[in-house]
Order: sequence, then structure tokens, then C-alpha cells
Amino acid sequence: MDKIIINGGKKLKGEVKISGSKNAALPILIATLLTDDKCTIKNVPDLEDINTVIALLRHLGKKIHRKEDIITVSADKNIRSDAPYELVCKMRASVLVAGPLLARFKKADISLPGGCAIGLRPINIHLDGFKRLGAKYKINKGDVFLKASKLKASKIILDFPSVGATENLLMTSTLVEGETIIENAAIEPEIADLVNFLINCGAKISGIGTSKLKVFGVKKLKGCTYTVMSDRIETGTYIISSAITNGDIKIIGSIMEHNESLIEKIRVAGAKVSRKNGSLKIKGSGKIKSIDVETQVFPGFPTDLQPLWMTLMTVSRGESVITETVFENRLRTVAELIRMGADIKIKGSSAFVKGVKNLTGTKVVASDLRSAAALILAGLAAKGKTEITGLEHLYRGYENIVGKLKNLGADIKLIKKQRVMSNG
Ligand code: UD1
Repeated sequence: MDKIIINGGKKLKGEVKISGSKNAALPILIATLLTDDKCTIKNVPDLEDINTVIALLRHLGKKIHRKEDIITVSADKNIRSDAPYELVCKMRASVLVAGPLLARFKKADISLPGGCAIGLRPINIHLDGFKRLGAKYKINKGDVFLKASKLKASKIILDFPSVGATENLLMTSTLVEGETIIENAAIEPEIADLVNFLINCGAKISGIGTSKLKVFGVKKLKGCTYTVMSDRIETGTYIISSAITNGDIKIIGSIMEHNESLIEKIRVAGAKVSRKNGSLKIKGSGKIKSIDVETQVFPGFPTDLQPLWMTLMTVSRGESVITETVFENRLRTVAELIRMGADIKIKGSSAFVKGVKNLTGTKVVASDLRSAAALILAGLAAKGKTEITGLEHLYRGYENIVGKLKNLGADIKLIKKQRVMSNG
């Protein structure tokens, strides 16, 4: 079992460069299914989720070439239209292939992702949207079969501004004749990055960055070269890591506007945040104030940073309430933080946190991607040695986090599972 060992108490100092956004790179790579032309995608992070999407695209018939952070996708053979359970269960974002496959081949057979560590995560909003575009679907033994004789442009009002559903319906409608309007669309920055990529491929989309997207279907999309935006959740992770260690770090390559809700909160909590020549400086104050947070869709406080904020609050002065409104199971880090000495009580979807003087290092297990990052932050702040397992979750979404934190002066190491070598 791989583990991370942290000897806590070091103030982080120095510079860290932010990688390309996982949640933007995934739909953009999947959107290459909309064309047979070659697409070159730059600034793609080196992550397990990216390996999964590459395996999925290869399974569907795409040829992939990867060199450092550049991935080239071209058509290899006839594209298949099925996404098997083995790949979908590894990563829910695999359901995003449904949109492009439906648009191009008028059919898609996708395994349902099922529940996952942070909640039920159904795909009803995606399916309702496909129906509005003229597709029919049936669900059998955990697979959904979508087909359409002809897709038609439509007005779709999403029940909830789901990020994945907005992306799926956007991709489909780029190739549907006529004008499709998606209302109550998600406005997370990753959507705008996908829209920019699609526009570079020849799609006609207006309303970028707003909750009303208009898509004018075109006959064909072409290939392009596109650079993925930087990862706002990784940025947020380093912002909080500086505050929790009373550090002084410079973050390079992030987009400040993507983290405004976090920056506003962390300033009130006492950290100093400044921007200079495109980089962000975060300086801890040594005294963290207790500040309540409720997760919301963008531009509200992101659910992906909620477990990290809660970790910061465990060592704050006073009491705070952290409320999760987007995913039902995203308070799972609490049990592990309590093992480290945190004082947290859960009532419904809220966590009531009383700040303690310090956390104490111990053995903890990550239950999902962001809980893994939260436990790393807890380990950085804790007294003594913290040992974190469950790292398969971390590998999905943080590029070289151990190396980056080490560079910032953390006492952290990754111990990879020893391979047992036989002599025979
Ligand atoms: C994406 C992000 C994830 C982030 C989330 C919210 C990727 C790969 N993942 O996930 O990191 O935490 O946005 O910002 O980009 N829902 C339904 N029915 C649906 C679709 C969603 O009920 O058809 C519910 C979900 O169960 C969840 C909420 O809506 O409770 C938000 O989901 P959604 O915005 O779709 O998130 P994802 O696209 O899965």
C-alpha cells in the first residue's frame, strides 16, 4: 500500500506552479470525439483520471500520442459507441462520451457510473436533456442505451446547473442542426474552457460564461490546438496550505478570478493575499479566524474545496459551520480529522467545527480525492507524524503534490508499495 508520511509543523515558503485543470482537460479530451481531425491538447496534467480518459478514447477507436503535457488525439479506426463499466466505474466523467457519440453516431451505450464516495451522482439531467434533443433511451442492467433517428435543436432548461450535464449537452448540440438553447447552465470556468475549445474546432456558441448558452449546430467540427486552463482547485489547495502552515508562498500560473470566493473567505480568516505580475502571494497570519462556509455552484464556494476549508477551521480560533449543499457524502473527512484531534460534530449536511490548538499526527485513510488533499493539509499543520493511505484517490487529481509541497519546504515523503521481486 502506498503511503504519504508527513512530519508536520513546517511553514511553507517559496513558489509553486499550478498544473493544467483536470476538470477542464477531461471534457476537452472527450470532445475530440466530435471530429476525426487531429487535435493537440496542451497543458494536460499527469493524473490517473487522464490515464482513464486516454484508455476510454483508445477503447472507442482514437489514436493517442502523449509527450509530457501535450496529448494528440486522432482517428485510428471506426469509432465505437460503447463505454464499458470497467472504465466508467473508475471515473464518473466517462459519461461525458455519451454526448459526442450521440451527436456523431446517433447512438451511445454507456454503463451507469453508480454511486461513488461523495454521493449518489445520478445522470437524470443529462438524460432529460438528450431526450429534449430527440434521443430515446432505455436503461437495462446498469447500462443506458441512447439512440436517435434524428437529433433536433431545442430549448433545454436544466433542473439544476449540473456541470457534467451542461458539458454533455453542449457537446451534443454543436452538431445538431438549428439553434439549441441551454438555460440554467452551469457557469463553472471549466465550461468556458470547453466552449473555447469547441469554438476553436469551428463550433458556433454564444453566451460563454453565462447560464444561457446558445449553440448553432454546424455540419462538422475540425481539429485544433488548444491549451487547457490552470486548475483552480489545485490553486485553492495551495492557498489553504499556506494559510494553515502560517506560510508565505507564491502561486504561479493561476487565474485569480477563478478563486474569488475562497480568497474573500481566507482574507477574512486572516491570511494576506496579493497579486503581482500574474502570480498570487499568500501569507498566513498565525491566527486563523473561524469563518462559516456553505458550498454553492460557481461563483460560490466550491464543494471541491470544502474538506480543505474544514481542515483549516479545525485549527482556527473559535467555532464555524461548514455546510455542504452540492454532494451528500462530502463530509467523510470528518472522522479522520477527529482521529487527528479535531473537534467536529455533524448535523445533517453541516459540520460544526470548534477550533483546537493543534492537530496531532496519526494514521489516516483518504476516502475520496479532496479528502486525500485535506488530510495532507491536516498533516502539514499537525504536531508529529501523519501517515496517509488511500492514495489511489489522490493520484486521480493532484499532479506531483508531494514534490510540489517538498519544494515549498514541507517534510513530506511518498512511500510506494514495495514490489516483491522473485528470484525465479
Ligand atoms: C463536476 C466536477 C466535480 C465538482 C462538481 C461540482 C468534473 C470531472 N467533476 O462533477 O469535481 O465537484 O462538478 O462543481 O468536472 N446531479 C443530479 N443529476 C444529474 C447530474 C448531477 O442529480 O444528472 C447532482 C449530483 O448528484 C450532485 C450535483 O447535481 O449532487 C452536482 O453535480 P454536477 O454539477 O453534475 O457535478 P459533476 O459534473 O459530476
